[in-house]
Parts: sequence; C-alpha cells; structure tokens
Amino acid sequence: MVTRSEPGRALSDARHTTDSLFELVRPDSLYDRPVPERNRLIFYLGHLEAFDWNLLARHALEVPAFHAEFDHLFAFGIDPPPGDLPNDTPAAWPGAAEVRRYNRRTREIVDEVLDQLPEELVQAAIEHRLMHAETFAYLLHQMPYGKKAAPAGAGIPGPAPAAREEFVEIGAGEARMGLERGRTFGWDNEFEEHGVAVGEFAVARYKVTNRQYLEFVKEGAAAPHFWAMREGRWMYRGMFAEYPLPLDCPVYVTQEEASAYAAWRGMRLLTEPEFHRAAERSRPSANLGFRGWDPVPVTADDAAGGEVAQMTGNGWEWTSTAFGPFPGFEAFPFYRNYSEPFFDGRHFVLKGASPRTAACFLRPSFRNWFRPSYPYLYATFRVVKS
Ligand SMILES: [Fe+2]
Repeated sequence: MVTRSEPGRALSDARHTTDSLFELVRPDSLYDRPVPERNRLIFYLGHLEAFDWNLLARHALEVPAFHAEFDHLFAFGIDPPPGDLPNDTPAAWPGAAEVRRYNRRTREIVDEVLDQLPEELVQAAIEHRLMHAETFAYLLHQMPYGKKAAPAGAGIPGPAPAAREEFVEIGAGEARMGLERGRTFGWDNEFEEHGVAVGEFAVARYKVTNRQYLEFVKEGAAAPHFWAMREGRWMYRGMFAEYPLPLDCPVYVTQEEASAYAAWRGMRLLTEPEFHRAAERSRPSANLGFRGWDPVPVTADDAAGGEVAQMTGNGWEWTSTAFGPFPGFEAFPFYRNYSEPFFDGRHFVLKGASPRTAACFLRPSFRNWFRPSYPYLYATFRVVKS
C-alpha cells in the first residue's frame, strides 16, 4: 500500500488537475499555438515536469539528469514584448509520446525523493503547477470549440438580478500588505509584510458588467476580446460555447481598456493598496477554485454578504499599480526569475481570483501581474471615485 505525506497528496492532486486539463485537448491539437504570444501547447505538457525536475531533483538534491535536453527545452515560458512574436514550427518540438515518457520518469524520481525535500520547494512546485492550470485554461479558451471537449457541468450562467451601480465609502486607513517572512509559504514578491496609508475613496460595489461596457462600445470603444458580433448581435465567447452576451456578468478586458472605460466615466481604477482596503469589506465569490469555467453575474454572490461584491473570485481585478517589489524584497534563490524580470513598469498588478484560480492563491497577499494590453486573461475591474 502506498501511503502519502501531506505534501505528497497535495502534489498528486495538483498533477491530477493539470492532467485533466490536457485531456480536454484533442491529441492532434497539441502542437497548436492558441495565443500568439505564448508557446505551443506541447511546451506546457513538458514544462510542468521540467520545472519540478529542475527545482526538486536537480537544484535541491543534485540528482543527475536523465534527459538534460528536455530539462532545458521545457524550463521556462515566454512573455515577449508586443510585436515580437515567437515563430518556431511544430516540427521543432519533440513527439508527445517522448514528452509523456519524460513526465512519467520525472514523477517517479520526484516521488522517490519527496520526503527529503524542503517543504517550501514542494509548495513552490505545487503552486507553480496550479498557476499553469489557470494559464492553460486561458490558452484552451482561445481554441476553436471543435478542438476541445467540454467536461460535464460546463454550462452558461443562469439569470440573476441586474446590478444597480452603487458605491461603498472606504475611509482613510492603513492597508496591510504582504506576508511576514518565515510564517507561511508565499512567493518572493509577497514579502515583506508592511502597511501603506490609503486616503478615503468610494469603490463600486460591483465589477463593471458587460451591460455597462456595452455603453462604452456604443460610444466607439473597441469590443473586448471575449465578445463577437454575429448577425448584428453581441455574443460571448465562453470556454466551451458561444452564447448571447450575458449582460450582468463582469466584462473581461485588458488593463488599457479598463483604464479607458474608467476615464470615460470620470473615474479611475483601484490601486493595489486600495484593493486591500476594499477587500476587507468583501466575501469571496463562489466562482473560483475550478468550480466554473466562465463568469457568473456580479450579483450572484450577494447572499454571501459583504458590502463590496466579489473582490475574490469571478475574475481577477486590474489595478493601476505597476508590479514592483515590496520593501525588503529578495528574489528566491531557487527561482530568481519568478518576479524580478517583471519589475519593469510594463506589467500591472491584478488581485482577487478568477473562476480558474486554485484555492491556494486566495491568500490576500498573492499578486498576479500581466502586460496592460494582454487580452486573454479572466480579468475584470471596478471603478473608483475619490
Ligand atoms: Fe512556468
């Protein structure tokens, strides 16, 4: 009988999650590149195990490589600046059977040494894998419906009361940011714990909806990436089906679109510290932790209470804060490039969680970041008056 330690169980669960995502892709589509700025899907099949190998076997325990070529080929993803797209061909990538053999062998060796590994590294491997469960969902979202299989229970959002625009006053005070070092796992950019003084502001109770954003589009703004006009009617490009634009669901937009909408309304986006202040007055949405695939209406969680709705779940929220280090930041020696290369003023912080965000990222200190023009995210926003 195999008995597993707690980290062993968590790693095994995370593998199950990512394995089940790959099962949704038709085998002949594994070499597709659904997002031009990212690698082909086959990269992700090898990347999760290569990351675990490089971190857990090679870096931590100096286990000799059994497939050094793949350890390198699948080591890191890409995030090219706008206009600088990758141009590799499918033939440049190895066959799926060889990648799956590499994955099986990696798992066997990692499982053999798991008990010797520092807990922090195992947690980093698990969270890295679960982050990719979300990024992989974005990629899958961009694939034609005929190239993926809908799992049971993937439906379209049901009706909910329409949202009225309301604002919640948040008094001046201190935002508690970050994590205290040594107490619990967090990524390098979550440290150190500190306070930031925040002035008073009024935040929209709800995320901006498709209905509200449609007014902006009627005034000439471009339609968001997730919308499609079919025979004179706006449709929503959901994960497994296209359906009439759900007017009371939050709109998924880029940070540039979110900022332009807010400016058009004479308002602005939340800053990262303001998000923390407002989130203290909120309850999480039920639409997170892989339960759903597409957004639900902004009023769907009203029964949960909380004065500000859905600050965690039902879509990440863009902030106006450029991604940067907290005071006392130190890059993790085992993954120096996790955060530091993105402290460039060209990436912005998102907070909260999307329907496809794993439960471990619900800690308030977790920070997500992307380029302001990247349109594939499950990223929402709300407006602020000050
Ligand atoms: Fe990665």
